[in-house]
Amino acid sequence: MKKRHFATSLGLAVILTGTAFAAGHISEDVTKAMEARQAHMTLYSFNMATLGGMAQDRTPYDAAAATAAANNLAAIANMDQSAYWVEGSDSSVEGSRAKAEIWSNADDYAEKIAALASASTALAAVAGNDLDALKGAFGPVGGSCAACHRAYRVSDN
Ligand code: HEC
Repeated sequence: MKKRHFATSLGLAVILTGTAFAAGHISEDVTKAMEARQAHMTLYSFNMATLGGMAQDRTPYDAAAATAAANNLAAIANMDQSAYWVEGSDSSVEGSRAKAEIWSNADDYAEKIAALASASTALAAVAGNDLDALKGAFGPVGGSCAACHRAYRVSDN
């Protein structure tokens, strides 16, 4: 019994040391990865503001501007993001609102990335047609952002 207890404590000590080393070792990379993915999100937001303004009748429909924003959004959404989402860069790190579940539910997270890529590709195909087409394809894009944020982003309130 005593021996077993010792073995358990030793195991724990090894794990803690490993974590401390990893955290110290990767912190600069983690900061860069967080900045890159937050910049990626900022570009989503910028293009969504143009599209949302038209889809929600706050700004006049402009086929060329809608096409440009939707093409940007689709291009960004189809980028490989795997290097940004570094395990350990969750909300326990200052400046991150990423939930740790991103890494424990990696397949679902990848599906949420793919859902936005597919919805924004569909939007880009029709955004320049007319306002009704834009409105129809805009909803699923906004829905894909929201679905991922609900599941994987710590809420700011
Ligand atoms: C696959 C999941 C996922 C999708 C899809 C997604 N986001 Fe995010 N978003 C996140 C996570 C996680 C964070 C928090 C990242 C962090 O703090 O490091 C975030 C953060 C943000 C931020 C804050 C960025 C900052 O500077 O801290 C904005 C703005 C944002 N998302 C906008 C969008 C918009 C607009 C869309 C859709 C076009 C979108 N996101 C789609 C997961 C997602």
